[in-house]
Amino acid sequence: MLQIKKKAFETFISQEKIQERVTELAQMISQDYVDKEPLFVVILNGSFMFAADLMKKISLPCYISFIKIASYQHMESTGKLTELIGLQEDIQNRHVVIIEDIVDTALTMSEISQQLTAQKPASLEIVTLLCKREAMQKDIHLKYVGFDIPNRFVVGYGLDYDGLGRNHPDICAEKQK
Ligand code: IMP
Repeated sequence: MLQIKKKAFETFISQEKIQERVTELAQMISQDYVDKEPLFVVILNGSFMFAADLMKKISLPCYISFIKIASYQHMESTGKLTELIGLQEDIQNRHVVIIEDIVDTALTMSEISQQLTAQKPASLEIVTLLCKREAMQKDIHLKYVGFDIPNRFVVGYGLDYDGLGRNHPDICAEKQK
C-alpha cells in the first residue's frame, strides 16, 4: 500500500514483473537496431527510471539524449503548444527511438513525434512502458509497449501524483472505492 496526499494506491505491477518486461523490450530493440547506432530520446521526468533500466539492458552502441516538454496554451488559438526543450543533437538521417513512461490520451506523444519527424530522421519509433489504449485520442504507432493497462491513475517507477511517488519501485494504481 502506498499513500500519497490522502490518496491510497495498491501495487499494480511489481518491480519483478517490470524488470522481466524491460529485459524483453531491450532484447527486441537490441535485435532491431543492430548496426544502426540509434539515438534514444528520453522524455523527462517520468521516464528516468524506465530509461535507466532499459539502457542497462540494451546491448548496442547507442546515443542517449534527454528532453523535457513544456506545454502551454497558445494565446491566438485554442490549441496547446508543446515545446521540446533540450534536444541538441541533429537527428537528420539518424535512427531515433523515443522513450516514454506512459501514453494516456497520446496527445503529447503525437505532438512530439510530429516535431521530430519534421527534422527528417532516418526512422522514428516509440517505446513506452505503459499504454492506456482506452484513453488514446490519437492514432499513433507504438512499436514497443511494456504493458497495456486500463484507464486507472498510476504512480511509481518514475510516475508521479502531484510530484510525489516517482521513487516507489513498483507501479501502483489508485485504489478503487
Ligand atoms: P498524454 O498526452 O495524455 O498521453 O499524457 C502523457 C503524460 O501524462 C505522461 O507522460 C505522464 O506524464 C502523464 N500521465 C498520464 N497518465 C498518467 C498516470 O496514470 N500517472 C501519472 N502520470 C500520467
